[in-house]
Amino acid sequence: MLPTIAREDDAVVMVDQRKLPAQEIYVRCRTAAEVAKAIKTMVIRGAPAIGVAAAFGIALGMRKSTATGTQKFAAEFYKTCELMAGTRPTAVNLFWAIERMKRVFAAAAEAGASVEQIQDRLDQDAQAIHDEDVASCRAMGAFGAKVVPADAKILTHCNAGALATAGYGTALGVIRGAIEAGKHVTVFADETRPFLQGARLTAWELVRDGIETTVITDNMAGSLMRQGGVNFVVVGADRIAANGDTANKIGTYSVAVLAREHDIPFYVAAPLSTIDLNTPDGSRIPIEERNAREVTHVAGTQLAATGSLIWNPAFDVTPHHFISGIITERGIFREPYTESLRAAFDKTPGPKDPAYTT
Ligand code: MRU
Repeated sequence: MLPTIAREDDAVVMVDQRKLPAQEIYVRCRTAAEVAKAIKTMVIRGAPAIGVAAAFGIALGMRKSTATGTQKFAAEFYKTCELMAGTRPTAVNLFWAIERMKRVFAAAAEAGASVEQIQDRLDQDAQAIHDEDVASCRAMGAFGAKVVPADAKILTHCNAGALATAGYGTALGVIRGAIEAGKHVTVFADETRPFLQGARLTAWELVRDGIETTVITDNMAGSLMRQGGVNFVVVGADRIAANGDTANKIGTYSVAVLAREHDIPFYVAAPLSTIDLNTPDGSRIPIEERNAREVTHVAGTQLAATGSLIWNPAFDVTPHHFISGIITERGIFREPYTESLRAAFDKTPGPKDPAYTT
């Protein structure tokens, strides 16, 4: 499986996603600060992968701590959590992973664990976050496969693949699951301006897996749909509000509107760690704005006229009524999302739940 991120004794290692597909370079982060910088500068990106990176980064930082007493160690721990929290604001998996590490820390400290024992528990839980993410993606793949047409022409946006997770992918996990279930699949990857995650990353990892992939520029999706070239859309998510409104890579909303116009099912695939029940609707999701240079330049070459103003939101919000279903590791949830998403956390849903699809 594609190695997105791994923990080694003295480092967190990740493939540099800014360099793909031209170069496959692995970055070794030796401190928590280096991991935080890697998240901020998008060496690693994609909501679940950001969460895993933060957890590994916190565990690494604390393993290297020179603090002797538990009080100093605790102060350093909370500072490291803050550092991670300041990297990217939209992907809720980041905050989910930090909160989980805080709970592990608090439980160990309360039980009177030594610094070394706390370090061990942080390491174990960070690895568990990684491993659980792969398992969730595989479960999403199996659930999602069931709603993919037998002869599927799938459009996806950005990269919600192995590179964006600990492995296998969410939206691309559904594609992989459908192929494993024997369906015939061809994929259209929106190039995804301005960072080009679709052209560079989605196409790279799908082609590497031998999956037929056609890259289109973002403005071609409507025409392709009108010609009958797409019969299923699946995308990932950075944060899903309690009512199902979904923040994902900028351009996702346009794809959802186009899918509705052409009567094409539009699915979101994401683990429960992406669902934020504390955010009631999409209007409350913080949207990251990134550097203007991502829009003005491509690979160092200036495209936009000097002096023009630039707007560069990294994400948009797709209102829940455009979403046919939300594919998670616990099944596929549907309208009314306010009820079905809450139920997803309360229990393991079964076939009798109206919002659950097997
Ligand atoms: O800015 P990015 O590349 O981190 O944005 C990634 C996306 O929007 C993905 O679709 C989302 O995080 C889901 S990844 C499984």
